[in-house]
Parts: sequence; structure tokens; C-alpha cells
Amino acid sequence: MNKFIVEVEQAYVVFDSHQALIDINVQIPQNSFVAIVGPNGAGKSTFIKSLLGLVNLTSGTIKIDGRSPQEVSPGDIGYIPQVKTMDRTFPALAIELVITGLDYRWPWKRSHPNIDRAYEALQRVGAEHLANRQISKLSGGELQRVCLARTIAREPKLVMLDEPATGIDAIGETDMYNMLESYQTSSCATILMITHDWHAATHHADYVLLLNRKQISFGPPAEALSEDNLRLAFGHIGHSHRLKFLVK
Ligand SMILES: Nc1ncnc2c1ncn2[C@@H]1O[C@H](COP(=O)(O)OP(=O)(O)O)[C@@H](O)[C@H]1O
Ligand SMILES: [Mg+2]
Repeated sequence: MNKFIVEVEQAYVVFDSHQALIDINVQIPQNSFVAIVGPNGAGKSTFIKSLLGLVNLTSGTIKIDGRSPQEVSPGDIGYIPQVKTMDRTFPALAIELVITGLDYRWPWKRSHPNIDRAYEALQRVGAEHLANRQISKLSGGELQRVCLARTIAREPKLVMLDEPATGIDAIGETDMYNMLESYQTSSCATILMITHDWHAATHHADYVLLLNRKQISFGPPAEALSEDNLRLAFGHIGHSHRLKFLVK
């Protein structure tokens, strides 16, 4: 096992003539919690998609546990896209959605050999009671739990989440962080999470990658989210939480 689960060197992504990512260089240690922070259009989703092999680098290299993104088997990485990209009207029960994380074959069967593992995954995120509910009837926070269960069912060593707190309330967000931290610890996994809320990130993340197309900083939260760096990324310091953070 490599010391670094993710190694990115001189990574550039250009869409047509738009430079979405410019010279990104990060080494993410195994078993760490990383928050990816930056304004809209900063290239955060593009960064995660490039780690997944969904977006090709224009130049530079990416290694995931020593391999290129294309060489990594899809089951080794968990990915939760932004909620708004998911079709919530899709007719499926929560437990069926979790089973698709274990077996991509169609159709699912209620006597599926993976059913126990799927229930166990729901249990780990406190969502066993949602197993037989239609996903279209779940609240934003409940759906996020079920998606997380689907993602961790295979016990991936790397989990990436694109703004998982969007559309859920503050309690749901705290729960989300707790569930992710508990998974990180119990499975020795690395978590990469895109978030708008850099204040919450300072409390939970081991490292922060601050992006605005260019890499502004990468390091422990207090260092990466210095006033100067926040100004560079957002053009201002952000909201009033900053003051609380500074006097802490
Ligand atoms: N497939 C694509 N084709 C062309 N432009 C894209 C594509 N994906 C993203 N972009 C552009 O790249 C920039 C970064 O997008 P994105 O990574 O989604 O930012 P963020 O997630 O930080 O809001 C945006 O200007 C977006 O419009
Ligand atoms: Mg995005």
C-alpha cells in the first residue's frame, strides 16, 4: 500500500479554451479526511471527476494508490455525485439502491445474495429503518444516508463526495460528518469531500485543498484557510464565522 492514496502532479484540465484546473499538485495521505473548498466554478467537481477518470487531464499525472484512474477498479472508489444530479423519481426501494452498490446487474432480487451486506451498510449509517421506503419519498438527508450506505457497502478505501451537505439541514450535515468520520476510522479509508462550508471543514478535515482553478493551498485547515488564502480564493474573507475561527 502506498503512503499516499492520491498523488496529483502538475495537473491541468482545459475545456475548449477554458482552463478549469491549472497546475494542481497534491499528495493525500492514506486514512485522511480532506475537504475541497472553493467558489462556484473553481474546478472542484472537475478535480474529483479527474480522480475518477471521468474527466481526462489535458496534461499532468494522477495516481490512485499507485495506479492511473483508468486502472482502478470502480469498486475501489466510492463516489457520491451532487444530489441534484440524481433522478429522485426513479422507482426503487432504498435497499435496492444500496444493492446496486454491490452488484451492478439488473434486475435486483429481494433474495439477492448481497441483501445482508446491503442491510449491514444501511445499519452502519443508521438507516436500516429506511430499507423498504421508496427513494422518491425520502427527505434530502435520508437519501444522502442511503447513498452513503450504497457507497460504503463495498468498503472502498477512497470515498469522494460532491457537496453532500447541499439540501440537508445543519443537523443532517453534522450527522454526515460523524458518519464519514466513523467510516474513515473503522475502514481505514480516505475521505475527499467538496464543501461550500469551509467553517465546518476546519472542524472535521485533516487537510483542506483550497481551489480557484489554481491551487491556492493544500494543508492542515488552519494553514490552508489563512485569511490571505481565503481572500485569494473568494475575493473576501467569507462570512462572520471567520472571526470565531480566528479567536479559537
Ligand atoms: N464537461 C465540461 N465541458 C466544458 N466545460 C466544463 C465541463 N465541466 C465543467 N466545465 C466548466 O469548468 C468550470 C469548473 O466547473 P466545476 O468543476 O463544475 O466547478 P465547481 O464544482 O467548483 O463549481 C466551470 O466554468 C464549468 O462551466
Ligand atoms: Mg461542483
